Amino acid sequence: RRSFLTATALAGGVALAGPFAWRLANAAEPRELKIPELIDARHHGQSVSLRVQPGKTSFFPGRESETLGYNGSYLGPTLRVHRGDDVEVAVTNALSEDTTVHWHGLLIPGELDGGPHQTIPTGATWQPVLPIRQPAATLWYHSHAHGRTAEQVYAGLAGLMIVTDDEEKALELPSEYGVDDIPLIMQDRQFENGSLVLPQGMRTRMHGRRGDTLMVNGTINPFARVPARLVRLRLVNGANARFFDLAFTDGRPFHWMASEGGLLERPVELRSLRLAPGERAEILVDFSDGRPVTLATGPDSNVPRMRMMERTADLTGGERDAVVRFEPQGAETSVVKVPEQLLTHERLDPSTAIRRRRFEMTMGMGMGSMMGSGSGGFGINGRSFDIGRVDERVGLGDTEIWEVSGAMMAHPFHIHGVHFTVLSRNGSPPDIRDQGLRDTIVVQEPVELLVQFLQPAENAPFMYHCHILEHEDNGMMGQFSVS
Ligand code: C2O
Ligand code: CU
Ligand code: CU
Repeated sequence: RRSFLTATALAGGVALAGPFAWRLANAAEPRELKIPELIDARHHGQSVSLRVQPGKTSFFPGRESETLGYNGSYLGPTLRVHRGDDVEVAVTNALSEDTTVHWHGLLIPGELDGGPHQTIPTGATWQPVLPIRQPAATLWYHSHAHGRTAEQVYAGLAGLMIVTDDEEKALELPSEYGVDDIPLIMQDRQFENGSLVLPQGMRTRMHGRRGDTLMVNGTINPFARVPARLVRLRLVNGANARFFDLAFTDGRPFHWMASEGGLLERPVELRSLRLAPGERAEILVDFSDGRPVTLATGPDSNVPRMRMMERTADLTGGERDAVVRFEPQGAETSVVKVPEQLLTHERLDPSTAIRRRRFEMTMGMGMGSMMGSGSGGFGINGRSFDIGRVDERVGLGDTEIWEVSGAMMAHPFHIHGVHFTVLSRNGSPPDIRDQGLRDTIVVQEPVELLVQFLQPAENAPFMYHCHILEHEDNGMMGQFSVS
C-alpha cells in the first residue's frame, strides 16, 4: 500500500539531531495563523460539498510536503450548521484509496455517522443528509477509514464543524468567525529538513504518532491578531496522540465555557486546561489589557509507563512550548462581560440506568505483541476490533452506566452517537473539569459514565474507542448497535 509520506524510523531522540538543527535554523519565523475558510450551510442553501484530495503544503517556506485535505491541501473548511436544519453534504473521494468522513460529536443515526462502515471508494461521492438537532457546540470531522484513520488524519484529513442555535445567539458571546471567535486545531507533526514525515516503529505503535513540531490550523509558530477585548477560542485537540496541557505564559485566568457537547451551565475560571486527542473546549479570554501573550503547552505527560524503553523526543527540557501568540489590536471599544449563566441542563437521573457495562482498554505487554505485525494486545475487554462483530447491543432510548478503565497510560475514550456525563472518577465524585456533556473523556483512573442512547444504529453500528488514533487502528475499538 502506498503511503503518502516518506516513512521514517525514529530509534530515539538521537535521530533528531539533524532535523532539529535544521528546525532551529528555519523555524524562527513566526507566521500569521491560518483561519480555515468558513462554509455556512445556510448561505449555501443548506448544502456543503467536500472533496477529499491529495495536495502539497508548504509548512516551512520553500519546502513542500505531500498532504491530504478537504477542498484544499491540508485540513478542511469550517462547516457552520444550524440547529433544526437538514444539511445536505456531498463528499467526493479524489484519493487513490478508500476514506470516510466521520462527524465527531454530531448526534445522528448510525448510517450517517461516517465511521468505518460508510466507506467512500475512490472516485465515489457520498451524500448524507445530516439532521442538526442538538445544541450549539464545537465539533469536528475527520477520516475514520478502517485501519487507516491515523495515517489519513496525520496527513491532513480533519476539519471543524460549528453548531449554532438561538439559545447560544441570545447570550451574545463573541461569534465573529476568525475575528473574536477563533478556531485552533492543535496538532503535532514530525519534519525532516522541512518536509512532513510519518513516524513509524515500535515506539509510535505504543505511544501513538507524535512529532517535535506543533502547529495550529496547519501553521507552525503562529501569531494571531485579536481585538483587545473578550475573545472566544475554540480549542480542538486534533493530534493523533499528544495531550495538550494549555496555559497562558503570563498565567492569566480564562473562562472555560463549553465542553464537547456544548455550553456548560456556567463558565468556570481556570488557569490551565488539559485536552486529550479528540477533545474540544471553548474558552473566553480577556485581551483588553492590550498585552501580547502566548498560549503554551507543557511537555506531553502521557507516555506509557515503560521509561527504560523510550527516550522522549521532547526538546523543550521541561519548558513550555508555544502554541500560538496573540497580539491584541486597537483600544477596547465595548465592554463585553463573561456571562454568569449559560444554559440550564436537564439532568438525567442515574437511577434510570437499566444496565451497567464494563470496558477495559488494554495494550500488549509482551515484546511479541508489541513487535508482531498483528494487532496483538490492543483491544477492549481483551478483544481486538473486528468490523464484522457487533460487540454490544443497546436498546434505543435506554440509559446505561458505562464503567471504563485503561491500562498503562491515559486513553481518551470516545463514544459515537451520544453525549454522556461523568458520574465518578476513581470512585469519587468527578472533578470540576469532568463536567458538561462529553463525547470523549480521559480515562486514567476508572470512570463511570451515564449515557442515554437516542440515535438508532441498527444496520450500521456506532464505535467506541480510544482516540489515540494508532491505538484505535490497532484494535482498541469496539462497536455497538442501538435499536
Ligand atoms: Cu473522532 Cu471515532 O472518532
Ligand atoms: Cu466520533
Ligand atoms: Cu489508547
